[in-house]
Amino acid sequence: MNHPSIIQGGMGAGVSDWKLARSVSVQGALGVVSGTALDIILVRRLEQGDVDGNMRRALAAFPDQSVADRIIKTWYRSDGTSETHDFSNVPPRRLDNKPETAKMLDEIAVASNFVEIWLAKEGHDNPVGINYLEKIQLPNAPSIYGAMLAGVDYIFMGAGIPLEVPGIIDAYSRGEGATFQIHIEGAAKDEITQGVFDPRTVIASPPATLKRPFFVSIVSSFILAVTMLTRASGKVDGLIVEHHTAGGHNAPPRGVLQLDNKGEPMYGPKDTVDYAKIIGLNVPFWLGGSFSKKESLSETISQGAQGIQVGTLFAFCRESGLMPTLKRKFLETVRAGTAIVFTHPSASPTGYPFKLGVLDGTLSESEVYKKRTPLCNMGYLRELFKTPEGTIGYRCSAENKKAYVKKGGKLERTDEARCLCNALLANIGLGMKYASSYLEEPLLTVGTHLESLKELIQQVGLDYSSKDVILFLKSKGTVGAKI
Ligand SMILES: Cc1cc2nc3c(=O)[nH]c(=O)nc-3n(C[C@H](O)[C@H](O)[C@H](O)COP(=O)(O)O)c2cc1C
Repeated sequence: MNHPSIIQGGMGAGVSDWKLARSVSVQGALGVVSGTALDIILVRRLEQGDVDGNMRRALAAFPDQSVADRIIKTWYRSDGTSETHDFSNVPPRRLDNKPETAKMLDEIAVASNFVEIWLAKEGHDNPVGINYLEKIQLPNAPSIYGAMLAGVDYIFMGAGIPLEVPGIIDAYSRGEGATFQIHIEGAAKDEITQGVFDPRTVIASPPATLKRPFFVSIVSSFILAVTMLTRASGKVDGLIVEHHTAGGHNAPPRGVLQLDNKGEPMYGPKDTVDYAKIIGLNVPFWLGGSFSKKESLSETISQGAQGIQVGTLFAFCRESGLMPTLKRKFLETVRAGTAIVFTHPSASPTGYPFKLGVLDGTLSESEVYKKRTPLCNMGYLRELFKTPEGTIGYRCSAENKKAYVKKGGKLERTDEARCLCNALLANIGLGMKYASSYLEEPLLTVGTHLESLKELIQQVGLDYSSKDVILFLKSKGTVGAKI
């Protein structure tokens, strides 16, 4: 198998949607859909009237039409438009959801992941990937099943240590269901809480077998790479070795967290992976995080890597899901040389550092952020914890402060916490508007390395395509690269 040498990194939520991933894969690089929050994204696209009909077209290919019909009947609004923002509240997942709610949530998770991959694969035979975050524990199992049902070729997973996922993929490929362990903060090691996903709860007659996609683990240290390769429940087919300059969430620095005078986490030599040691592991690997320079592709390949994973350059191209106005506003700051990227130590409820693209009118600005009344209504990033009574509780540092503290959360974690669930959906034009008329504000995430982006827009202009990105990445010394 010739793995691709350029991977368009998965970018949530909905930044690398099916349109971007498809456009990249058609050109022979690997397009990767973001698997984050696809369930609510499908619901909101249907509530906005599914004007181009793509959601309903893909749902028409779903293997169980009674499920597809139910989803359309429940969520589709024929009078919806891109101006519709009074979206329905989809109940957050809990382990004790009522059976009918759990079934409804599983149906949307499976169908939405199916839809996104089905559309990204439509009309060509090249591989397509999907990216999940391990930290988002509860929807991952049905989501992976939905993506496999549509024939996804690669599954990428980061933001955690997804030891169980290769085994889940193996089970699905044999036509079986999966059990998985749920991490409960404060639970003793021998108190194991298990989640279960059985495809028959969603599809009347699931296929007897499914193609097993490659599983690629996103790691930021040699130790984590070794852990995944030696302890995972199934085969790890490759690694993305991600540097802390990458967009999105980053691994925290090793050791005790220290902040520099700007308030950003201080990374040291221990945080840079020794690529020579990774080569010794004998698995294909790609380098991500500031590897979008013209020479990156040829250099990484000549040093023994399979290639590069690139995010930021693709995030701002024409085909990405980001709102055009946001793209343009940020690109103007890049062109002017005034763009700022800030690695925020505590903006993300996950507790991981998160890269913010600083931009007026977005939640990177404290006056915009302070206007939002804290509220958790989607719950992807909630932490599950053991309550003093021994039950399972749910908390998020971006929820109502009093409620968070009452649930044992630390007040200082709420000071800067942003509701990423709502902000990231606002980035792609799916922000919620409430009865109070407050509309959720966006929050950009961008990688630190902006020089390549500046060079690209100087050459092509602010409105560039994924093809321009690929040509740019291949433009110097790519002899021997296979894409
Ligand atoms: C807008 C944006 C969103 C991202 N979201 C995710 C994500 O959901 N999951 C993930 O594993 N990586 C995410 N990333 C990281 C990219 O997949 C990629 O690894 C990274 O951007 C590479 O570094 P670069 O930005 O310097 O090219 C995101 C990056 C950006 C720019």
